[in-house]
Amino acid sequence: MTNLRQEGRIALITGASRGIGAAVARLLASRGMRVVVNYRSSRDEADDVVASIVSAGGQAMAVQADVRDESAVRDMVEQIRAAIGEVEVLVHNALIPYAVKSFDEISWDELGGKLEQEMRAAFLMTKAVVPGMTKGGYGRIVYLGTVLSRRPRAGMIALGTSKAALSQFARYVAQELGPQGITVNVVAPGPVGETTIVNAVLEQAHQQNQAAQTALGRIATPDDVARAVAFYAGDDSGFITGITAPVNGGMAMD
Ligand SMILES: NC(=O)c1ccc[n+]([C@@H]2O[C@H](COP(=O)([O-])OP(=O)(O)OC[C@H]3O[C@@H](n4cnc5c(N)ncnc54)[C@H](OP(=O)(O)O)[C@@H]3O)[C@@H](O)[C@H]2O)c1
Repeated sequence: MTNLRQEGRIALITGASRGIGAAVARLLASRGMRVVVNYRSSRDEADDVVASIVSAGGQAMAVQADVRDESAVRDMVEQIRAAIGEVEVLVHNALIPYAVKSFDEISWDELGGKLEQEMRAAFLMTKAVVPGMTKGGYGRIVYLGTVLSRRPRAGMIALGTSKAALSQFARYVAQELGPQGITVNVVAPGPVGETTIVNAVLEQAHQQNQAAQTALGRIATPDDVARAVAFYAGDDSGFITGITAPVNGGMAMD
């Protein structure tokens, strides 16, 4: 916990100790938000993200919680409320692990497990922050999706199917929460370099192949995605809700 000042929207970013979440935390803080860096086990990395924000003049604190755990999620939001106030902006980004397998190879436990955990985490996080947003008459909820929820790619059935469910969940929640001044959108990147999953799963040649499939000739950086997230997390997107926004350099043009 830190000595955060009083001004600036309170933004909670799940899974912000590295990758896209860390880039989002840094960008939102640079735009004046009070940022909460959630992590599950990477405390040192989360502390480094907070330190980099603070040294750049921003406001941040780190809070540990496993977003799949109901009581941990409730405790995290309570801890934030006690320290600085109600969460006004939720960027739900934490990466729930999944099997990279074909339909032929994958078991129900692997596919169903990813679906269940992906949706449980989004459900719990949303349930935890909506009462505070409703009280304030303002909220921005942004979920991280993927281009693979519209465009199948070999081995990605568990991720693509669960993120497609997340997009439809977002539409339902958006419809219900609109009257409370809360917008709900999904930012759906293509492959993003400099992230754990892409480094682990996509070798160099494969990354070049993915880049060649984009109109812009490269795969995204975490900062590319963070800028799109910041738009949906901010006031300029106030009349946009229930959409899944592709951030894929023209890899898929719907
Ligand atoms: N990278 C891509 O190419 C890509 C493309 C499209 C969409 N996305 C989506 O973008 C999001 C972020 O992906 P990324 O590649 O940036 O991930 P990443 O680099 O692997 O980082 C994952 C983050 O999530 C945290 N985390 C994992 N499980 C958690 C849990 N149960 N509770 C709380 N935090 C948890 C990790 O913290 P700990 O280490 O402390 O667990 C870490 O901060 C994901 O939703 C992913 O599906 C990524």
